[in-house]
Amino acid sequence: MPKGRQPQRKVLIRRAAIKRRVGVVARQITRDFKGQRVHLVGVLKGACFFLADLAREIDLETSIDFIAVASYGRGGESSGQVRLLKDLDSSIAGLNVIVVEDILDTGLTLNYLLNLFRQRRPKTLRVAAFLDKPSRRVQPVKADYTGFTIPNEFVVGYGLDHAERYRSLKDVCVLRLPRT
Ligand code: IMP
Repeated sequence: MPKGRQPQRKVLIRRAAIKRRVGVVARQITRDFKGQRVHLVGVLKGACFFLADLAREIDLETSIDFIAVASYGRGGESSGQVRLLKDLDSSIAGLNVIVVEDILDTGLTLNYLLNLFRQRRPKTLRVAAFLDKPSRRVQPVKADYTGFTIPNEFVVGYGLDHAERYRSLKDVCVLRLPRT
C-alpha cells in the first residue's frame, strides 16, 4: 500500500479502562450467580481476549467452551445468513451459560446463537458483550452484561480484527480505511 494510504488508527478505549470495566462486569456476574457454576461460551475468534480476562476475574467456579461462526455478506455487511464453523465441545444442558461476544452489531450472529443454544436446554442463558453498537441493530437482541456502548465506528483491538489484523492491540481503536 503506498504511504499515506495506510488505515488510520485512533484510540477509543484505553487498556486501563478496559481492565477496570472487565472487573466491574465480572463482579456483576459473580453477584448474579452467587454460589453457582457458570459456563462461559466464547464466540471465536474475537471474544477470546475478553473471555480470558473475564474468566479470571469472576469469583465463581467456571468452565469454558468455544464456538465459531461465519456470517455471509459482501463488503463487510452481514447478509443475515450465519454458518456454524465449529460447534461446542460439550453439552450445555442444565448449565448457567453466558455467551461471551466481542461486539454486538446487527445482532444477527447473536440471534442465531441464542436460537441454537435455547434448543439445548441450558439452565440459564445470558449474554456478555464486550462492545455494543446499538445503532446498527437489525435483530432485537440485548446483552445482559455490556463492557462499553460505542458509536457506529469500525473498531479493532482486544480481539477485534480487520482481515485478521490488529487483534492483539491492547487498546480498542477506531480504524479508518483509506478510500479506494
Ligand atoms: P453482528 O452479527 O452484525 O452482530 O456481528 C457480529 C460480528 O461482526 C462480531 O462478532 C464481529 O466479528 C464483527 N464486527 C462487527 N462490528 C465490528 C467492528 O467494528 N470491528 C470488528 N468486527 C466487527
